[in-house]
Amino acid sequence: MATVTIANENKSVHGAAEIASLLASHGIDYERWNSSHDVADDAPAAEILQAYAREIDELKQRGGYVTADVIDVDPNTAGLEQMLAKFNREHWHDEDEVRFIIAGHGLFHIHTAAGPVLAIEVEAGDLIRVPRGTHHWFDLCADRRIRAIRLFMDPAGWAPHYTESGVDQGFQPVCFGPAYVAPRA
Ligand SMILES: [Fe+2]
Repeated sequence: MATVTIANENKSVHGAAEIASLLASHGIDYERWNSSHDVADDAPAAEILQAYAREIDELKQRGGYVTADVIDVDPNTAGLEQMLAKFNREHWHDEDEVRFIIAGHGLFHIHTAAGPVLAIEVEAGDLIRVPRGTHHWFDLCADRRIRAIRLFMDPAGWAPHYTESGVDQGFQPVCFGPAYVAPRA
């Protein structure tokens, strides 16, 4: 389950319905896919895409996406920090950023048109759609791990356009979600 923090108000929002409602008010889709698919989160990408074929097809029809793939990074991924450095500054894309999280964690900061910056921590089972043109940036959490299904209209449209606003400098890329509470002994 995601956690959303309204950074400027120091307020957190929990619960799928509450999160979906808040994000919808800023044009961002959020869903939980609770359907239990009989596929391991470390299965080959082709098996992941096959297991989620129905959901992917629904999203394609809804959003006009034509391709889907699986992004998979962990602390051993070559060039990970250089890759992250492309996306951890405020930017936008010419197409939607659609992610369904299979494993790991991620932190989206959304600089809403209305003003507030929303910090959205995502984890397995979370679907997020950030519409084209939305100003945002992305970081990994402490586990430096994310595996996610991505959908594209045209992968070429996913190149970042930087705002160079510097707004991202005012926010720490720190995740606070339940995953980072120390496990009970
Ligand atoms: Fe992005």
